Amino acid sequence: MKKILVTGGLGFIGSHTVVELQSEGYDVIIIDDLSNSSVDVIEGIKAITGKLPIFEKLDLKEKASVERFFQKHSDISGVIHFAASKAVGESIENPLLYYENNLNTLIYMLKEVLNLSASNFIFSSSCTVYGQADEMPITENAPIKPAESPYGNTKQIGEEIIKDTCKVNDNLNAIALRYFNPIGAHPSTKIGELPIGVPQNLVPFITQTAAGLRECLSVFGNDYTTPDGTCIRDYIHVVDLAKAHVVALERLLNDNNQSNFETFNVGTGVGSSVLEVIRSFENVSGQSLNYKIAPRREGDVVKAYANTKKANTILGWEAKSSLDDAMLSAWKWEKNIRNIED
Ligand code: UD1
Repeated sequence: MKKILVTGGLGFIGSHTVVELQSEGYDVIIIDDLSNSSVDVIEGIKAITGKLPIFEKLDLKEKASVERFFQKHSDISGVIHFAASKAVGESIENPLLYYENNLNTLIYMLKEVLNLSASNFIFSSSCTVYGQADEMPITENAPIKPAESPYGNTKQIGEEIIKDTCKVNDNLNAIALRYFNPIGAHPSTKIGELPIGVPQNLVPFITQTAAGLRECLSVFGNDYTTPDGTCIRDYIHVVDLAKAHVVALERLLNDNNQSNFETFNVGTGVGSSVLEVIRSFENVSGQSLNYKIAPRREGDVVKAYANTKKANTILGWEAKSSLDDAMLSAWKWEKNIRNIED
């Protein structure tokens, strides 16, 4: 039974990945500081998989604690590093918080991973590294544009840090997964997205509006150069995204990687506009959504959707769920946590 460390394992993508890892027979240890997650998520994971993962509440910024943790767990075969802050607006207001949370912690992790006998590392990157790409769909070779926010910059610099470290450490094997827009929830409705405060992302804002927690969704701009004027993104079901982590990890565990630092887009390849997402929600939920057109949001790119060929052919992974599937699971989850009857 291989032991895998998942940092940020109680968060949205982390918890779904822990479920997939445990379902494939891995022993999982979760580190999470609970800054943007709840300890109750462990129970959800147990309810789905029948197995309680080991959990340590630990702040990765505390270098000495990280060192102690790895002294105790030197038999880890792979690390999936989700732990990071991800609110774009907050990162603009408090850049040092983001550089410290997302980069110091990455450095401390890498130092420890280098000392393991199996130095396998999966990094949560983002399509934000491409900025507004010139060509759609976006391939992994698209140029990295200057970051729009400190958050985006931490993903770019994070990749650079890993790449530079890989160059001089043959034993380190790393994959950066560049996520497009993860949405949805586990079909069991035992785990899902739990934004603290007002959701910044589209789908939780939609489901919270439908659940009566928010009055009205603001659609940020309908005068973009897209068919219906609203921005286009590649929305991927979080379970599909979670499975991509298992496949990427196994590529490293089985020594199948072609170089010791690789990047993959993880998306569906399908671009959907904000209005299409709303229509999908209305379609699967059978209710109409209260929304209005509002001014553009600063920093939004017009469109971003993935060319998934590299992940499909080299990783042997592809997204299976449609936008409707993902929206239905997001709605079921919202109804479950708000005790809304069908
Ligand atoms: C954003 C970040 C991305 C980050 C992700 C994680 C940018 C440009 N990208 O993705 O790097 O990884 O968050 O949280 O900031 N929208 C509305 N009304 C809302 C909310 C969103 O119309 O209330 C629209 C947005 O304008 C956008 C789309 O919905 O067109 C998706 O927005 P969101 O869910 O915030 O994701 P991104 O902005 O794509």
